[in-house]
Amino acid sequence: MRREEVAYFGAGPAPLPTPVLEKGAAAFVNYEDSGLGLAEISHRSSTATRILDETKKALISLLDIPDNYEILFLHGGGSGEFSAVVFNMVALWVEKRRRRAKEELGDNDEAILLRVREELTSSLRLDYLVTGSWSLKASQEAAQLLEPLGQDFVNVALDAREANDGKFGAIPPEDTWELTPPGANAGCGSAFVYYCDNETVDGVEFPSFPKSLEPQAGEDERLVVADMSSNFISRQIRISDYAVIFGGAQKNIGITDVTLAIVRKDILTTIPSPSFLHKVGVWSPPTILNWSVINSLYNTMPIFSIWIAGEVMRGLLAAHGTSKVAGQEAISNAKAETIYRILDANPQVYQPVNHKSVRSRMNICFRVKDAATEKEFLEGAEIRMLQGLKGHRSVGGIRASNYNAVPMANVQKLAEYLSDFARAKSS
Ligand SMILES: Cc1ncc(COP(=O)(O)O)c(C=O)c1O
Repeated sequence: MRREEVAYFGAGPAPLPTPVLEKGAAAFVNYEDSGLGLAEISHRSSTATRILDETKKALISLLDIPDNYEILFLHGGGSGEFSAVVFNMVALWVEKRRRRAKEELGDNDEAILLRVREELTSSLRLDYLVTGSWSLKASQEAAQLLEPLGQDFVNVALDAREANDGKFGAIPPEDTWELTPPGANAGCGSAFVYYCDNETVDGVEFPSFPKSLEPQAGEDERLVVADMSSNFISRQIRISDYAVIFGGAQKNIGITDVTLAIVRKDILTTIPSPSFLHKVGVWSPPTILNWSVINSLYNTMPIFSIWIAGEVMRGLLAAHGTSKVAGQEAISNAKAETIYRILDANPQVYQPVNHKSVRSRMNICFRVKDAATEKEFLEGAEIRMLQGLKGHRSVGGIRASNYNAVPMANVQKLAEYLSDFARAKSS
């Protein structure tokens, strides 16, 4: 079987550009005639340093990342970051409270400690917008981590299931979200507002950055944390809207094994050392999840995976020239529209799962008529070598993942099958 014969729509790990894989296969064995493969070299070697720098540069260029942001390569996948976000951002919240208390109380360490402890129990809030399975998991992870502190500090500001008969779907209007006001809780606001930009399982994508998270004149800023695991580098974003963006590489960027985060530098420099945190009664971030430590190449980084990510991004830059990620966005949109158009044109056979306003461009979820016809659909797809279309086990149905490296030609093959199948089932 040749690669070109298979059209793969799996939700992640996902297809990669063939030229990257071919170059990667060679680099795995013998990188640039060095006599060593990329998985064999030290992560502190000059070659590794160059690869890290070049991969960062490609991401900076692709997304126009300003100087006041750092790019981190991390372990633990998106799931690891569910915890890392809580550890780091709560530590940051505590440190900001300590600094403020110090301004007001001077050098009275005992009073500062008492003040911060009191603020922690009365005012710590973590805001989560729950729009699908992954943001739900992230909010549950936060609640579990904070449970030993004695109360529920997680504020689910939105649970989209409540507006959709118990299932994830349309995102309710922003004025119904119950975000912690920036100046609430003795001026402490929330430690962060978390959301998942694209819900991979449920096919729900935020159409754009939520207006209510934008900074308001005269109010403290909200620190916005976004999980972009499944739509990273697929559309233009304004980096300055975010405090932290993270995502596993294995969908749009590269192979499993490396997680990327874009973190505002002032956050990295404000995460305190353990002693004050421990006195207050919160844990300091475990070293492997501590953004300010891991940033200095704390442990062995997967250089091969980071190189692959760099190749993918350099490929996009070469393909789209000055339009950069906007070029990719146009292609992603065109591919998604090709599929949705056929689904919408055949309502007697296909039911797209989500409301048009939140339909994911990356994970196109739909149902086929009934269970028997759905099974038939999947069997017919396999015969045409259209693979990876089965929906997530928790929701069923069909999911066609349309990540960056899925070529338009494969989307067209799927479109043709969708039309043929609909015609056969309608006659
Ligand atoms: C949106 C999103 N967030 C987080 C995760 C978890 O990522 P990982 O498997 O890298 O832990 C996934 C995995 O598919 C995901 O799609």
